[in-house]
Amino acid sequence: MDMKDDILEVLVSTDEIQKRTAELGQQIGHDYQGRNPLMICILRGAVVFLSDLMRAVPIHVTVDFMGISSYGGTNMDSTGVIKITRDVDTNVAHRDVIIVEDIVDTGLTMRALVDLLNTRAPRSVEICTLLSKPQRRKVDVEIKYCGFEVPNKFVIGYGLDYDENYRNLPFVGVLKPEVYEKRKEEKG
Ligand code: IMP
Repeated sequence: MDMKDDILEVLVSTDEIQKRTAELGQQIGHDYQGRNPLMICILRGAVVFLSDLMRAVPIHVTVDFMGISSYGGTNMDSTGVIKITRDVDTNVAHRDVIIVEDIVDTGLTMRALVDLLNTRAPRSVEICTLLSKPQRRKVDVEIKYCGFEVPNKFVIGYGLDYDENYRNLPFVGVLKPEVYEKRKEEKG
């Protein structure tokens, strides 16, 4: 069965993502002229965004990866207590860090991560997220670079998953309700 049969609605199209990613890349190039920012990609959801974004940045950047899981959360909700499942290899001290994230929802994960990175004496820490759901925010996080604001709906595609699926969709969309019902039945 085709993944696209599970999609209720496309929220952000491939063309829109491509255009906005190019703009963000230019903006980062402009803002970090003469510096050498470290882009930290949050696994796994931000991988697709990073790979397009880094190629849109016209200055030297280095990249590294960080895996984070949320203690006690479900795959649709986070808790704010984070566990680093994979840390960066790069020394963050004195670096201009740009966290590359797929989506800021409640903000709890980014709040905790920014606080953690700040203990490592970086020169600066900023967030670049493909998506943001401002209506869901529980804590304040300053997002310097945001691709798109989306409504309070669970979204998938372009790196974002539901139960590890749909990351390879080339757009951001919403699933049909029956997909969740079917998955719940399968899991019992
Ligand atoms: P926060 O801590 O609530 O901001 O959640 C951030 C993390 O929750 C993201 O990195 C995603 O992994 C996940 N998440 C939040 N909303 C969605 C969504 O709509 N689709 C897929 N994953 C989501």
